[in-house]
Amino acid sequence: MSAQTFPKWTVGQIAARCGVKVSTLHFYEDKALIYSLRNAGNQRRYYPDTIRRVSIIKAAQKMGVSLEKIKESLDLLPNKRTPTKGDWEKMSTQWHSMLDERIEALSRLRNTITGCIGCGCLSMEKCPIYNPDDILGNNAKGPILLDRPSKST
Ligand code: FES
Repeated sequence: MSAQTFPKWTVGQIAARCGVKVSTLHFYEDKALIYSLRNAGNQRRYYPDTIRRVSIIKAAQKMGVSLEKIKESLDLLPNKRTPTKGDWEKMSTQWHSMLDERIEALSRLRNTITGCIGCGCLSMEKCPIYNPDDILGNNAKGPILLDRPSKST
């Protein structure tokens, strides 16, 4: 462990600053997404980088990243000292391709949501053109055109 001083942030202070419930922090801690040290009175105390971790967890969850994926990435950060810029860069590298895929998928959804997505409903004006008689459903399931790489419908 580095010469870092004992953490001072209480669970209530972290919760207030991050805009989450105390129970959420306890949940994150149970899942080993964040960690605390216990003081002499057996109360949890957190290093300030916990605020950054919680903020990243919240932001990633909003983007639909699973807690398992978030944990995989956070596990790259050191638990016993404040992460450096290099530590965060290591984590960020792991997220690049995942976020690129998500951005592409969301862009595809945005661009195709008003057209035929090949889901089998045949309820849109262009369904007979892109999915006549639900021919796409013969070989695959789900919104087939949505799952394909960009192609305007
Ligand atoms: S939108 Fe459902 S099959 Fe076209």
